[in-house]
Amino acid sequence: MSEHVSLSTMSRRWRRAPRRWGHPLHSVCSYFAMFPPTIPHVFVRWLTKPGDVVYDPFSGRGTAPVEACRLGRLGMGSDANPLAYVLTAAKVDPPTMLEAQRRLLMLRESMQPVTTRGVPSQIRMLYSGKVIRQLIWLRDRLDLQRRDDRFIMALLLGVMHANYKPGRPARGLSISMPNTFSMSPEYVRRYIEEHRLKPPDVDVFDLLEIKLERMRLPGSTATRGLAWQQDAREPAAQPVLDRPAKLVFTSPPYLSVIKYGKYNWVRLWMLKQDPRSVDESLVSTGSRSKYLAFLSTVLKELAPAVREDGYLCLMIGDVRERGTGKNTNLAELVWEEAARPLGWKLRGVVNDRLPTEHKVSRIWKRGRGQATKTDRILILSHNVRRSVPLPPLDPVRWAAATAWA
Ligand SMILES: C[S@@+](CC[C@H](N)C(=O)[O-])C[C@H]1O[C@@H](n2cnc3c(N)ncnc32)[C@H](O)[C@@H]1O
Repeated sequence: MSEHVSLSTMSRRWRRAPRRWGHPLHSVCSYFAMFPPTIPHVFVRWLTKPGDVVYDPFSGRGTAPVEACRLGRLGMGSDANPLAYVLTAAKVDPPTMLEAQRRLLMLRESMQPVTTRGVPSQIRMLYSGKVIRQLIWLRDRLDLQRRDDRFIMALLLGVMHANYKPGRPARGLSISMPNTFSMSPEYVRRYIEEHRLKPPDVDVFDLLEIKLERMRLPGSTATRGLAWQQDAREPAAQPVLDRPAKLVFTSPPYLSVIKYGKYNWVRLWMLKQDPRSVDESLVSTGSRSKYLAFLSTVLKELAPAVREDGYLCLMIGDVRERGTGKNTNLAELVWEEAARPLGWKLRGVVNDRLPTEHKVSRIWKRGRGQATKTDRILILSHNVRRSVPLPPLDPVRWAAATAWA
């Protein structure tokens, strides 16, 4: 039975989900500032119907569009970061298991000797000689226009580095390193020397096969989506203009300096991309006025991408000011200074207090002062009168909710 929606208690709905809930595709590769699939799951079920378009213009690892496809909606995602594009594209339009297995086998069996000349020393220090040769082979062979290859690339990006304990099965290809982000090459070099780390003796194809088997890839008739690389400050791309979204669900970059390029230098090497150019192309600012101006441009360009009867949901965390330690409700500022002046209507706000310290801050053991404590989701729409109620929402049965439609 549907329930009338109470926004003040809505976050309890996803807090009730089992830990690590989600389809295995969500965990192909970790990504900075990703949200858990439980949150878009609730919003997609609540505000859209099967067949509707759901779009995320800051798609990151593709969480919202993947969750939308899984629920039978057309999930679309774009991001200016080439790493985010590959991950989103691979996941919203995955090959079937058979297609992926065949292609992987073909790549394994056709492997030729390769030269490793030209591989930078900061990459060499992470892997065994055999792994380097296999990586070079795949780096030159995988064609990102093909959906099977894109998917294999996404799997590979997910195992480029991971923690490793000698004697235990390796979960990644590298010397022991966090999986979430690549630490600076200088730091890693010193760490390897100090701890005399040895790279694991693994086979790239074996590891990819094992990972692939866990993916529960959908069959050939399942709903698939679309992804493209785009700066959200530019006019919305044709796919969404042709079929505007019933729901845009997104989490823009934070008001902080996150270097998606710099801290993904290993994965970007695999993608033949320069981390510095990636960072130059993304918005990353600690300046409040620049941030609000950025969001104002984005919200203007997004307007034609949202249906007249659609919703634009923005997930924005509170920020703690460096000097004063004061908490700023950034979502409210975005509403007052960026969305309202453009004519967006505020339908409601969902507040979600995070129970623990922000994960990235914990790993870095610094920047604690800036950790997000409360996330807020602004629910905006075009012209609907306040008196039109938000739709009801069926209760989520988490245990039964991870199949692909
Ligand atoms: C908070 S993350 C989104 C994470 C995503 N929700 C997920 O679950 O993985 C913000 C994203 O904005 C992207 N980004 C930064 N500046 C951008 C811009 N100007 N245009 C489009 N994307 C941008 C970053 O690459 C990053 O993926």
